[in-house]
Amino acid sequence: MNKDKLILRTRFIERASHWFMVICFFAVALSGLSWFFPSLNGLNAVFGTPQLARILHPFFGVVVFLLLMFLFVRFVRYNLPEREDLQWFKNLKQVLAGQHEPALNIGKYNAGQKILFWGIMGLISLLLLSGVVIWRPYFAPLFSIPTIRIGLLVHALAGISLILLIIGHAYLAFWVKGSIRGMVTGYVSRRWAKTHHDRWYRQLNSKQSKAGSDK
Ligand code: HEM
Repeated sequence: MNKDKLILRTRFIERASHWFMVICFFAVALSGLSWFFPSLNGLNAVFGTPQLARILHPFFGVVVFLLLMFLFVRFVRYNLPEREDLQWFKNLKQVLAGQHEPALNIGKYNAGQKILFWGIMGLISLLLLSGVVIWRPYFAPLFSIPTIRIGLLVHALAGISLILLIIGHAYLAFWVKGSIRGMVTGYVSRRWAKTHHDRWYRQLNSKQSKAGSDK
């Protein structure tokens, strides 16, 4: 791999957290779906047996939450709303058509990715809070029956919403060729960066040339 032509997009610790979290997320999501839809009952085999699934689902859920909070801390500064995001919204037609000219002044993540980021973080927080309320035998006895009922409803709605959001996230990750490589190897090509995240690319270049002239 010629690293001169490549740019570091995601560090090892972030990639490891992302993929470990994805594995845990699939186990939690599949077991959750198995209780929600009776026809999908067999999916709780993801944890071995239905009993194990019932015990492990909440613990793995907490692991997903903690890993996402780690990613939150690492990525939040790149996902804050900026005035430049308006340009992405105004040219949504061009974005959906996969056209990259004219460049849209996009930073490390585009406005769509930012919405997804906040959606994921909001929903996982709702899942944790509602999950604690309905977690038998540990915490549920601390709450009244009506509160547990609301907890169950919120948990189911947030779970289904997050699964749909992640299907969209994975689809887009495959659709934009080169982004999976960025999350697997950590590196993207200069061309990829210039095409999809032109402002981020310019910022990196000016940092590099500044560092070069400081030497
Ligand atoms: C097969 C499933 C998945 C694939 C293929 C995938 C792929 C990716 C890729 C390629 C990126 C980097 C995007 C870029 O550099 O522009 C990314 C970022 C990210 N992914 Fe995933 N992902 C998957 C599942 C998940 C799940 C289950 C979650 C959370 C529940 C998640 C949360 C995130 C977050 C928070 C980021 C950072 C995005 C940002 O900061 O705006 N991913 N993912």
